[in-house]
Parts: sequence; structure tokens; C-alpha cells
Amino acid sequence: MNQTPPTGWSEDYRAGLMNTYGVPKLLLTRGRGAHVWDVEGNEYVDMLAGIAVNSLGHAHPALVAAVTDQLATLGHVSNLFASQPQVVLAQRLVDLLGAGPQSRVFFSNSGTEANEAAFKLTRRTGRTKIVACLEGFHGRTMGALALTANEAYRTPFEPLPGDVTWVPFGDVEALADAVDDETAAVVVEPLQGEAGVNQPPARYLAAVREITSRHGALMWLDEIQTGVGRTGTWFAHQNPRLVDGTVVPDVVTLAKGLAGGLPIGATIATGAAAELLVPGNHGTTFGGNPVSTAAALAVLDVIERDGLLAHAVALGALLRDGLLADPRVVEVRGAGLMLGLSLADSVDTSRVVEAGHRHGFILNVPRPGRVRLVPPLVLTHEDAEKFLATFPAILDEAGA
Ligand SMILES: Cc1ncc(COP(=O)(O)O)c(C=O)c1O
Repeated sequence: MNQTPPTGWSEDYRAGLMNTYGVPKLLLTRGRGAHVWDVEGNEYVDMLAGIAVNSLGHAHPALVAAVTDQLATLGHVSNLFASQPQVVLAQRLVDLLGAGPQSRVFFSNSGTEANEAAFKLTRRTGRTKIVACLEGFHGRTMGALALTANEAYRTPFEPLPGDVTWVPFGDVEALADAVDDETAAVVVEPLQGEAGVNQPPARYLAAVREITSRHGALMWLDEIQTGVGRTGTWFAHQNPRLVDGTVVPDVVTLAKGLAGGLPIGATIATGAAAELLVPGNHGTTFGGNPVSTAAALAVLDVIERDGLLAHAVALGALLRDGLLADPRVVEVRGAGLMLGLSLADSVDTSRVVEAGHRHGFILNVPRPGRVRLVPPLVLTHEDAEKFLATFPAILDEAGA
């Protein structure tokens, strides 16, 4: 079967797919490391990584081997059976979280599903009230959407599962006022990725822990975008560049970078929260399947073996310092390889993505005025330097 669409692929896309994303600008055909190629043979350095997903870049040999070996051995069994990679991965995640051996994992297939499981888990406290943050993003299924404040995403689908209130991200006083003895959980992202990498004060997560503990509410961290080494530590809430002190959450959700591009979600609960979901409460056919969990184990192995946490810290610092040398970069937030740039009004950010393509870079503008950089953790120094050398020209082309 010929899988190459004709040059008029965008018409075929429009004719075949529901119009949920608009028609993409590029059709990508292959990738290697932090590079991708389009159908016309143009090469790009990928500074987006499938939206913080391709931790090991594209076609990483260890990931390819893990997935193909597993698929050739045992590809799917359902959760009526256990499989080795699933059991090993759960243990690895519990160890990396370091919140005690009584922590437990539920596997699913995406970020929104990881949050659905966590949302259901919070209902098992007997309370229904949830406090979330303005500008947060937790996914598109009805439960995850109920936690997301963005009116444009929510309104067409109301009524949503309810009893959710929102407070400004990073505002300890507002949170203290919103949480009471009827609050089931507070859900926050350590960095708000979809909002363009919003960063709270370093003492914020410790305050969230203190306030939730005081009221017997669960502290739920959505690390779907920030987790698995993205900020230079396994979890962003463990990152001393972002968070003061040690914080132990009750629930952590993961997805995106965990399996390097294979679909996976993980809901990790610690302490008493790990016992809240009981047989019959939740389930999934594909979640925790052998192929995705084998992929995740390969991702964790390579991050460890190749020192990619330290690499993310070093490249993040290099990018931050280099970018700030251009006066049009007003601020850089985030840590490791999750950076949000605020650009001066002289830059029309609606033109940055296409200017990036013309210069051979995949870039992302999650909101006006902001550029988000979440490249593969295997981005090379050479590519980072090339990006720094080229970015001013991209901004010139996107001049307002
Ligand atoms: C913090 C956060 N939570 C949840 C999600 C939803 O994940 P998914 O798109 O895999 O459903 C995202 C996706 O961008 C996210 O960034």
C-alpha cells in the first residue's frame, strides 16, 4: 500500500480528518535524534518534541529495540493478566518518586486519562470539592476538562462534572481561602505548560502541601508535562531550581515523555491515597500494555545511562543565557528543557512558528507573546548553539 500522500496532502487531510486542529502546516515523514524531515525533504531541529513527548528524540535505537522486541514477544494481554514490563515499571516509578513503598500506580494511555483516574480517586475520599488553578490545563475528556479553567475549552461541553473552583496560580493566600474541610483535592502543575510555562514562587508547592494537609485534602500534582526528566530532575516537584524544600504529594499524574512517544498515562498515589481505588472502581483495556510499558522502561534506562537529567540542566542553562542576550527576549521561565520565553511587543508571535520553519526549526507558541521550548532531552549542544545563533533572525522575520 502506498502511504505517501500526493503533494496536495493538505486537501486530503481536510477531507479525511475532523476539523479539531486546523490543517497542520507540515507533513512530517521521518525523524532521527532531535531532527525531523517533511514530505518535501526539508530538515528541522525539533524544539517541541511532539509537545514534550519524544524524550529520546526520534527513532532512538534503544526505544525501537524495546518496542519491537516486546511486540515480537507479547504485545497485548489486557488487565485480566499481568505482564512483566508493567510490574517492573510500576516499581521503578514508585522508587523514583521516593514517597515510600506503599505508593501504587494505575496505568492508562494518555494524560487526560491519568487525570480521569486521579479525579475518580479523589471522589473516593467521600468529598467532591476540587480546587484547581487559573490558566491550568489538565486534558480534554469530561472529567479532566472540568478541572481546566479555560472558558473556550469548557463552555461548549457544559455541564461538566462539577464542584471545581479556580484560584490564581502561585497565590498562596487565595489557595488558603479556597480550601476547606470539604475539599477533596487541590490539583496543580509545578509549571503550567500549556499556558506558556508559568512558574510559581519557589515556596508555592510547600504551601500547597501545608494547606491541603491542614484540611485533610489530597495534594495532586499534574506532572504530565513536567515529569520524567523534562526539567532536569525526574519530577519537577523534586527540582531545587523550582521548589524550596521537600514536598511529598498524595497523587502525581504522568504521561507525555514517559514512554518517549508510545501512548501511556500513569496515576501514582502515595500513602493512604494509594488504597482509595478498589476493585471495580476503574479500569482500561489498553492501559499498562506490555509495549508502552517496555517503551517507558527503555526511556528511564536511557535517561539514567546517558546522564540526560544533567544534560537537560546544562542545555537549559545554555539556552536561557543565550536567549536572554537578545533584548527582545524579556523573560525566560522554567527549568531544564522546559522553557517559556516572553517576547517583546515588537515581535508578532503569530509569525514565529512559520519563520522558524523557514530557518529549519520546529517551534511552538502556546499563547500570544510566548514561545515554549520543550525539545528532546537528547538535543545536542551543537543544535542548541545553532538555535541560539538562528533565533534572532527568526525574531527579525516575525517583527511586528
Ligand atoms: C499538564 C497537562 N495535563 C494534561 C494534559 C493532557 O494530556 P493528553 O493530551 O495526553 O491527554 C496535558 C497535555 O498537554 C498537560 O500539559
